[in-house]
Amino acid sequence: MGGAAALAVSIAGLTIHVMTAPSPRKLLLGITGGIAAYKAAELARLFVKAGWQVQVVMTAHATEFVAPLTFQALTGREVRGALFDPQHEAAMGHIELARWPDAIVIAPASANTIAKLAQGRADDLLSTLCLATDKPLFVVPAMNRLMWSNAATQDNLALLRRRGVQQLGPGSGSQACGEIGEGRMWEPEQIFDSVSAALGQTKDLAGLHAVVTAGPTREPLDPVRFISNRSSGKQGYAVAAALASRGAKVTLISGPTQLPTPAGITRIDVESAEQMLGISLAAAAEAQIFVGAAAVADYRASSVAPEKIKKSGEAMTLTLSKNPDILARVRAAQPALFLVGFAAETEKLAEHARGKLEKKQLNLIAANWVGAGKAFDTEDNALSLFWPGGEAEIASASKAEVARQLVDRIIALYRSR
Ligand SMILES: Cc1cc2nc3c(=O)[nH]c(=O)nc-3n(C[C@H](O)[C@H](O)[C@H](O)COP(=O)(O)O)c2cc1C
Repeated sequence: MGGAAALAVSIAGLTIHVMTAPSPRKLLLGITGGIAAYKAAELARLFVKAGWQVQVVMTAHATEFVAPLTFQALTGREVRGALFDPQHEAAMGHIELARWPDAIVIAPASANTIAKLAQGRADDLLSTLCLATDKPLFVVPAMNRLMWSNAATQDNLALLRRRGVQQLGPGSGSQACGEIGEGRMWEPEQIFDSVSAALGQTKDLAGLHAVVTAGPTREPLDPVRFISNRSSGKQGYAVAAALASRGAKVTLISGPTQLPTPAGITRIDVESAEQMLGISLAAAAEAQIFVGAAAVADYRASSVAPEKIKKSGEAMTLTLSKNPDILARVRAAQPALFLVGFAAETEKLAEHARGKLEKKQLNLIAANWVGAGKAFDTEDNALSLFWPGGEAEIASASKAEVARQLVDRIIALYRSR
């Protein structure tokens, strides 16, 4: 498997640890004939962006849904599909192709291909490769809810799991066929995170406990209304997933979001800033790293009406009270904690972020531009990082990729304290 290699050399009694350049990791991405094949393009892009070499193999039916040229353009490699292919057999034949990757991911995996794998059939390139490899195999099912719940599909997957095949998903929700139920392919970022985690990134945070707050808060006005903001929680959830993939025990304190809980993470749901503060203080007492990514409301209603507020005059005045500053309170309670804040700014980003870094005695602050379609409830993000004595940029990328780079920085700064 790829990754940075460490070489220890002893010179004159001193041991010098040399890190060699990481070799790119290799993924064989199998794509089968399902509607979700279009999402495989985003999955390929995520792996390529993270430095993987990606070789796509499509079944004949997959090419009915998406053109191979899409994947060729994204991966820079010719897409393979034919089993009997004299030109490729002379160069990288099917057996070499089966040996080449660090892992095989089939996304989407059709009910048909899952059945073929369970039976050990080898009647096209993808199924032959899967039979001729000893590399980790991930299947990502995607199909109509009745195909999914069919006993044949369930038995086939149970058999594959017993043989060590790793099944990712499916999720549930609205389906391309117009039905609602289980069988939806996991989102590309979720697949990418799970494969990266399963292939064992360096577990440099093993033994450490990290707490992450994410999402918006809701400050009630009456039993049916609240003040909130546009935060989706995606960046905070991605940070939690990235910390977990590096071996940390992670507690995610989440305001209301629509997001699934990342694998292996303990999630505590809260609504208001005051609830988030209470849980944060308790969790921080057990943690070494705290990342405050939640978009906490600065103000709440001074008094919450016990009954629904009735419509009355043309104008209405709300009296608001300042909410507690969660990061400042966590810092006061835990002076030794490695504390990371987020700053969402619409102007003077660096100046405001540095001000918060100092005022709240943070170890690191991640600032992003918000407003006008930036950051909140979008898929991509970019961050400016500031810490005492340093700064760096994380260029625009998926929130999962931005989270990985942020966690790299957290680890470097945590270690250098
Ligand atoms: C429009 C359309 C959409 C389909 N979507 C799916 C799907 O999401 N999942 C699935 O398992 N099969 C789906 N099928 C059926 C498969 O394409 C079919 O079983 C095919 O034989 C799969 O071949 P493969 O596994 O070799 O790619 C769909 C078929 C059509 C016509």
